[in-house]
Amino acid sequence: MAQLPLKFYEWIATRFYQKKPLDLQLLFVHLIERSLSSRREDNARVLTSYLDHDYWLFRFIAGKNIAQLHDRVSIENELISLLRDPDRKVREGGAQGLATLLQQDFFAWSSLITNGLEKKEKLLSLSLLLSILQFLQASSAANLSCDQYNQIASWFNGLKKTNFPAITHHFVTFCTPVISTHHPLLWNQLLKEDEKNWETTADLPIPDSLIDQIIGQDDAVRLIRRASRQHRSVLLIGEPGTGKSLLAKAMTNELSFYPLEDILIEQNTQQPYHPMVKTLTAGEGLTHLDQISKQASSQKQRLLFLLGFSGITLMGSILFYAFTQQQPLTLLWGLGPLIALPFLYRMWRQPSHRSIKLLVDNSQGNHVPFVDATGMQAGGLLGDIRHDPYQSGGNETPPHELIEAGAIHLAHQGVLYIDEVSTLGMESQQSLLSAFQEKKLAITGRNSNSSGTMIRTQAVPCNFILVLAGNDQDIEGMHPALRSRIQGNGYEIYMKNFMPDTKENRLKVAQFVAQEVKRDGKIPPFQRKAVERVIEEAKRRSERKESMTTRFRELGGLIRAAGDIAVERGATEVTHHDVTDALTETRTIEEQKTATIQPTMN
Ligand SMILES: Nc1ncnc2c1ncn2[C@@H]1O[C@H](COP(=O)(O)OP(=O)(O)OP(=O)(O)O)[C@@H](O)[C@H]1O
Ligand SMILES: [Mg+2]
Repeated sequence: MAQLPLKFYEWIATRFYQKKPLDLQLLFVHLIERSLSSRREDNARVLTSYLDHDYWLFRFIAGKNIAQLHDRVSIENELISLLRDPDRKVREGGAQGLATLLQQDFFAWSSLITNGLEKKEKLLSLSLLLSILQFLQASSAANLSCDQYNQIASWFNGLKKTNFPAITHHFVTFCTPVISTHHPLLWNQLLKEDEKNWETTADLPIPDSLIDQIIGQDDAVRLIRRASRQHRSVLLIGEPGTGKSLLAKAMTNELSFYPLEDILIEQNTQQPYHPMVKTLTAGEGLTHLDQISKQASSQKQRLLFLLGFSGITLMGSILFYAFTQQQPLTLLWGLGPLIALPFLYRMWRQPSHRSIKLLVDNSQGNHVPFVDATGMQAGGLLGDIRHDPYQSGGNETPPHELIEAGAIHLAHQGVLYIDEVSTLGMESQQSLLSAFQEKKLAITGRNSNSSGTMIRTQAVPCNFILVLAGNDQDIEGMHPALRSRIQGNGYEIYMKNFMPDTKENRLKVAQFVAQEVKRDGKIPPFQRKAVERVIEEAKRRSERKESMTTRFRELGGLIRAAGDIAVERGATEVTHHDVTDALTETRTIEEQKTATIQPTMN
């Protein structure tokens, strides 16, 4: 009898829920788990039958509750196969099961992880990482022994050696926050090992996500993560090269992706100077244009056929008449209609394929748009009407064809980034503010001398997140209403221009060097000593005690220069001598000037 609800849920889940949304399917996990009997023997039988079930849900339940099975040898094999399962959810279930087993007897189960890591398989390693993380989440620092920490640290090192980018990403994104906050002992141990274990920057892991590549701006990164979760706007103030543009781009990657839209401008036959706006799901815009042009070409073919057929029939009849009645002059009559045919064709052909324009095309858009509108004039930012050289006389381009999207429209559903915001005129800032508030802005001609001012579209959608950037002076040049809007609904972030000289931050600078080498793609990795030389320079440039600069663009320049010197030498690694040479050869104009003036002063 106790099995009855269980059988019932199994039956419903298998029959009706396999194609339903994940949330609904997962509801059955809860129901089935609640209906499992309180006797372990009965459960073992049920769960064993789930282990190789076709439906992932049952394999997931089996993995989660694997600790209830008795036979240890068979559990190990089954668990490994669940941890390698192609279905992500099943692997998650297996990882939960393994975490429970570790809680029950850490050292008994640690060989499974150690052996598993030796196989160097991506899916298996990922699942093992997840189990370790879940184990750490479920345990408090006080309950774990030093031996356990040593074992876990050696697993993490094994995982890093697998060199799978997904592992690095999971480690940085999910494990780092848990370990650094809840297991400080382990964290310090890992940092020490990281420090010990690398010889060149090629040995250092580089995080996959852009936001994890941002160095020395921990507060800013924390706020940006929050702002992107809540879709808030941001003002970034700071010195050049501290990572403002990088943060804005990283924010775009962090935003949750929702279906993008295409924006189309349609000819308005009633009021040609007020073209209409239409939105379609991304990709449908092109399909729509394609359909219209197919319709137009089939209409053209029909018309050609009709006119051709009429022309041939007419000519045939005239020829027939001319020959049978022996009246050759009749042939001349035929010329008139023949000449008229092309004119008729032009007159009747409807220019339907020109009646719509794809203004914002997101057909390739599998990521949130990021538009950098730094330095744009009003037209580029807010949209404009292109100049038409034939403004009248029947040859003019139809008004809707002249419309150009502004950066605000291209950034629809994404991020609009504007650096040096004060260079935008007050009027443009005002229009930007109203577009930002209304989430739509009509496009009209911005040049008062052009006939484009007569054209004004319906309101074009522009629902963007605004990221403004600048330095201290830019704040003064900002339209007060725009600033207040950001203050009211967003975040103001001041970028740090130095960071304390700690072990952790030195490792971060090493990570920065590794990132720049990878981003550049043309220079070899840096030896450890070369990185130390870069760190020294970062300290010197901070101009304060026990700090390092965070003006990373300039440091990036030094890295590229040192890399180029190594390439010139034909070397496969950059040495500290290359960095020293780069430092003397790539002095700023000001430094070079001082160097040439000094001898004459002496
Ligand atoms: N905090 C950082 N972490 C990692 N790399 C950085 C950081 N800041 C700058 N960089 C490096 O320097 C380059 C330039 O940085 P970015 O364009 O983001 O600076 P910025 O603050 O926008 O400067 P500007 O005000 O001159 O536009 C980046 O592409 C990156 O390679
Ligand atoms: Mg920038």
